Order: sequence, then C-alpha cells, then structure tokens
Amino acid sequence: MDVASPLLSSQQILVQGLRNAVPYIREHDGKVFVLAFGGEALDAPERFSQVVRDVVLLADLGARLVLVPGARPQINRRLTQAGMAQKFHQGLRITEFEMIDPVTEAVGALQFDLLSWLSTRLSMSSGSGLAQRVLTGNFVTAKPMGVIDGVDLGFTGSVRRVDVAGIRDALGDGSIVVQSNLGFSPTGELYNLRAEEVAEALAVSLGADKLIFLTDPVDNLPNVMALNEVQNLLDHTVTPFSDEFRLHLESAIRACSRGVDRVHLVDRDDDGALLVELFTRDGSGTLISSEPFEKIRAASLNDIGGIVALIEPLEQTGVLVRRSREQLELELDRFVVIERDGDVIGCAALYPYPEESTAELAALVVHPAYQRGGRAGRLLSFLELRARAAQLSSLFLLSTQTMAFFKEKGFVEESLARLPAERQALYNFKRNSKIFKKCL
Ligand SMILES: CC(C)(COP(=O)(O)OP(=O)(O)OC[C@H]1O[C@@H](n2cnc3c(N)ncnc32)[C@H](O)[C@@H]1OP(=O)(O)O)[C@@H](O)C(=O)NCCC(=O)NCCS
Repeated sequence: MDVASPLLSSQQILVQGLRNAVPYIREHDGKVFVLAFGGEALDAPERFSQVVRDVVLLADLGARLVLVPGARPQINRRLTQAGMAQKFHQGLRITEFEMIDPVTEAVGALQFDLLSWLSTRLSMSSGSGLAQRVLTGNFVTAKPMGVIDGVDLGFTGSVRRVDVAGIRDALGDGSIVVQSNLGFSPTGELYNLRAEEVAEALAVSLGADKLIFLTDPVDNLPNVMALNEVQNLLDHTVTPFSDEFRLHLESAIRACSRGVDRVHLVDRDDDGALLVELFTRDGSGTLISSEPFEKIRAASLNDIGGIVALIEPLEQTGVLVRRSREQLELELDRFVVIERDGDVIGCAALYPYPEESTAELAALVVHPAYQRGGRAGRLLSFLELRARAAQLSSLFLLSTQTMAFFKEKGFVEESLARLPAERQALYNFKRNSKIFKKCL
C-alpha cells in the first residue's frame, strides 16, 4: 500500500516506494502525456529546474511527452514594457496588430529558456534514457477567434487543426515535443492562443492517456473527482479560483468528455509532486476522470491475492474466522470487492440461505488506509441491493468487535436459535460472537 508508516526506516520507505512505483513505470511506458504549465512556472527557476528534471525522468522511463508552456505573465510584462494596455473581452486577451511583436518576443524567449533547461537535463542523462531531443514545430494550425459581441479579438485565435501524424512521428523518435501557445493560419498569419486550449486540443487529437496541468495550489481539493463533481465545484464554489485554475477545470471536463482518460492537476510549487501523482496510487494532486477511479464489483480470480492481503491480518488477530485459500477460491462468487485503480482495498461476502430467505454477511473489510470514508457503508448497501434482487428478506451476521458499527447500519441483535439450522450447527461457542439481523 502507498501509505508509509512513520515507524519505517528510510531504507524501508525507499524499498516500499520502489515496489509501489514499478507497476506504474510499466503502465506509463509508451503512453502519451500532454503536460501544460503556465508561464508562472518558469518565473520560479529553482523550482522549475526540479520540474524539468522530473519531466526528463518521465521521458527516460518511456512516457511520450508533449509540453505546452503558457506565457501569460511574460506577455503581460512585455506589453507593459512596450507601454501597451492589456485588453480583454470575456476573459480573452485582445491581440491587436501592434501587439504581435511583444507577444512573439515573450513567447519566443520563454520557448528558448525551456529548450535550454530541457537540453541541459537531457545531456546530463544522455545515453542512459530513452528521451533524446526536444522538438518544436508548426504542429498546430490556428484560426482567428474573430469578432465577439462586436469586439474584434484581432490576432487572438483558437486551434483549427493538430498535426497528429507529425507529433506521433516525433514522439516515436524519442523526442519530447514542445508546443507553444502560438499557431499559424494556413496563410501564414500568427495567432495568440490560450495554452490551456492548445493542451486540451493536443490531448484530445492525440488520444492522450493523460492531460496534466501544473497549476497553482488549491486547498482541500479531493484527490479524485468525477466530472459532475468538477462541474459542481465550478458552479457552486464559494472560494473564487484563479482564472488559470478555472480554465484548467473547464479544460479537464471537456478533455475527459472527449476521450482523454485522465486529467491531473498537480501543484507546480511542490517539489516531486508530479512524480508522486504519477507513480503512487493516491497521488499528490487531483485526478479527474470520466471513468470511476474506485468501484464496487463482483470478485474475480485475479482478486484473490488482494482479498487474502486484506483478510489475513484480521484472521491472525481473531477478528475474522480463518478461511483457507482453497475455500476462498471455491467461495469467490460470494465476494464483492472495492477496486481502487486496479487494487483491492475492500471486500465483503454474502452467503445465501435461500430456503430461509436470508443470507449471512461476512468478511466485511476496508483497508486501514481507506477507512472512515463511507466505504463499508457502500459495500453494505451494495450487498443489500443484491440480496433484495435475490428475493431475500433479511441479512444476518456474526460479530465479535464491530457490533456498534452494524447497529448504526440498522442491524438488531438476534438469538442463535433464529439462525438457519445449518448455520446454527457451525456456530463456534468459543468465539461467542454476537448475532445481528437486518430486515430488508
Ligand atoms: C468495520 C470496517 C469495515 C469499517 O470500514 P469503514 O470504511 O471505515 O466504514 P465507514 O467509513 O462506512 O464507517 C466508518 C464508521 O464506522 C465506525 N467503526 C469502524 N469500526 C468500528 C467498530 N469496530 N465498532 C464500532 N464502530 C466502528 C467508525 O468509527 C466510523 O464512524 P464515525 O466516523 O462516526 O466515527 C473497518 O473498520 C474494518 O475493516 N475493520 C476490520 C474488519 C472488521 O471488523 N469487519 C467487520 C466484521 S465482519
């Protein structure tokens, strides 16, 4: 499990970290990640050098990376230096003809800085990894935003087309692709695009496995969010987000709805946060996905190891009755599990007595790192639904230490004599378990 105990030595923590990371290293090999970050990231060179180091490490481990730097603060500074007022309409920058020079200077300088950082890192890891070079090009064709509400946005544009084959060739060649927020029209005009839109368009067109935004930190954001939760947050949040963060959330919803599996929001100021997000199950930031990250489902053969890992410690302490592995295999169709990103973090079983129209609930376990999140309650509801669907009218269970929990869930104490005769015969008087029942 990812959660390191404070009692572990630094060596044990390292070993545990490596063991946890290996499945993710395999999983990310050959996958396409689009990584977007605002120009603010490059304004903090010391922290950004760590990000660049982690980016090159990711590429060396086989991830195929497309980087999309934004340049908002850099553009703002150049315009101010040139004595030009910044103009916006509906949150979109108006790029007038005379602004093109300062904009291209700002984006160009930032692009060179980024290439320089990446080149230095790549040369330091040269020969040892898969990533070889950085490539930038005319991968995005742009079109003007035009006139909105009578306001001409000038050379502010949006993405018209992405050269998917060109980017795939470059990635296949071991290059890290860098795409700025500037795009050209087919007639050669240059347009100033939103970096978030460029990143989103690239991720969607490439069918990227991940779209990652390095973003400003936001307190109390859950580490996993479904699309409706993100929309809720945008609609109802009391704390106003920065414009940048709002754009990331909006892009995340659109990208997930259009086929990108996962969008990650990672704190750009937190050293190593990118690696923790990508190489641990619980990550460091927020994962947004249209697919449920955690689900309850019937157990399958592949889950046996995970179920054993959950119940074995409790069998040893006598909280649960011992089951042999063979018995578990035979009874597997009675188990349901909570799967979290491929791992079993909870389980429960239902043993039906159809003639008595009841079933025994057993082996309800949630991994300690995930307790008190309502998971046992959800497992219970799931099994109650199953029991109702099977026309059963009650559930019962035997417990030695969890009576209060089940009472809160509507179970009431019952006598041994009221259990199915078959189950009475198996009652272990030494354990002296309490019996609880719930009518459905
Ligand atoms: C019991 C167990 C499944 C609860 O899992 P969970 O995901 O934390 O449960 P939920 O989040 O749905 O509910 C948590 C509530 O149950 C309470 N609870 C947990 N274990 C309890 C126990 N042994 N006695 C009384 N209440 C208990 C918690 O205090 C919490 O209530 P609170 O937030 O009001 O304090 C989990 O603690 C576990 O795996 N325990 C070990 C195995 C076990 O005893 N299984 C039951 C025997 S079949």
